[in-house]
Amino acid sequence: MATLQAIKYSRGKLLVLDQLRLPHEHHYDEVSTAEDAFDCIRSMRVRGAPAIAIVAALAHAVELYNGDCKATTPEETIAYIESRLEFLKESRPTAVDLSNAISLLTLAARASKREGLAHPAAKDAILNSYIEAAETILAKDLENNTLIGSFGAAWLQQQYGATPSRQLSVLTHCNTGSLATSGHGTALGIIRTLHAQSLLRHAYCTETRPYNQGSRLTSFELVFENIPATLIADSMAGALFAQHRARMNIGAVVVGADRVVRNGDTANKIGTYALAVLARHHGIKFVVAAPTTSIDLDTETGAGIRIEERRAEELTQISGAVVAADGTVDTTRTAKVAIADQRIAVWNPAFDVTPYDLIDAIVTERGAVVKGPDGKFDFSLVLPERW
Ligand code: MRU
Repeated sequence: MATLQAIKYSRGKLLVLDQLRLPHEHHYDEVSTAEDAFDCIRSMRVRGAPAIAIVAALAHAVELYNGDCKATTPEETIAYIESRLEFLKESRPTAVDLSNAISLLTLAARASKREGLAHPAAKDAILNSYIEAAETILAKDLENNTLIGSFGAAWLQQQYGATPSRQLSVLTHCNTGSLATSGHGTALGIIRTLHAQSLLRHAYCTETRPYNQGSRLTSFELVFENIPATLIADSMAGALFAQHRARMNIGAVVVGADRVVRNGDTANKIGTYALAVLARHHGIKFVVAAPTTSIDLDTETGAGIRIEERRAEELTQISGAVVAADGTVDTTRTAKVAIADQRIAVWNPAFDVTPYDLIDAIVTERGAVVKGPDGKFDFSLVLPERW
């Protein structure tokens, strides 16, 4: 049965959809420990900045709920939680959502330490507080995405005066949908909302090499939702804009983010920067959709972002379901195929940084942030307490 739910959680149990098997197979892994979560995130069975943070937070909640913490004092309990979260933080370095979630969870655990409360009640209070905070992250993410969808659709509608009789087409990159989040999605959430409001003419999604999140996941979500959509290879975006922009009223490139830093520079899936340059050349708006949990005010510019580099095999090999001679897809048989000389040297950065000056709007759950008269982004409107 096809599903768009990447994360299924009930207290004490976490199931995560294996995205490496999509779209051919729908298999959930049980993720019960921090080690399970680390492996699931590192191997990209779950991916997407918000989903990574949620799975890490909830996996630790599950192990705490199941009695994994043997600490006998409040101090030991907090130290244990912090050490497990530090371990999880290293699973993937570029997305900031996980670090932001860890700060929040650590604060929640520390805040519940009550002077004068004896063991085991003191320990239970800390564990409960952690578990509740992790569950809130899950619930909040869905709420945030719905708001991002509305704010993003409203901003685009305003820019172009889009109406059901003058609809807008949009291109997106990578996967930012239900599979990358707790549901609805960020950039893909804007596309969903535009579609629901009859303002979307057509969605274009890129293949997103080398990991093919666009062809494997986004096209799956678009087909699932019956949204009119076309898949292109990453290298076709320029030709698409040059040839079809006017006819299809292509108004925006809408992408997600793994980390938006203080000046607005944005790390996102490799290929995003090239799309921003193309969008600027063609007079197409470039919009980043990101919850405030993807904003990192401690890093001044994109130069400070650590970019994950991944294995050579992601470029030199590809895997998928076997296609029979008559064109039918045998979803029960998958194969890995070599598509390059296996000895070639490979550079495989998973993300790139789009400079803020190429970005027209950063849409958060608290509204769209645009540049002021000084040409700079000011996040104080959406992050007053952290500014
Ligand atoms: O390597 P991935 O698949 O985790 O990369 C995902 C992206 O770059 C997304 O655009 C980003 O995480 C935002 S997901 C809402």
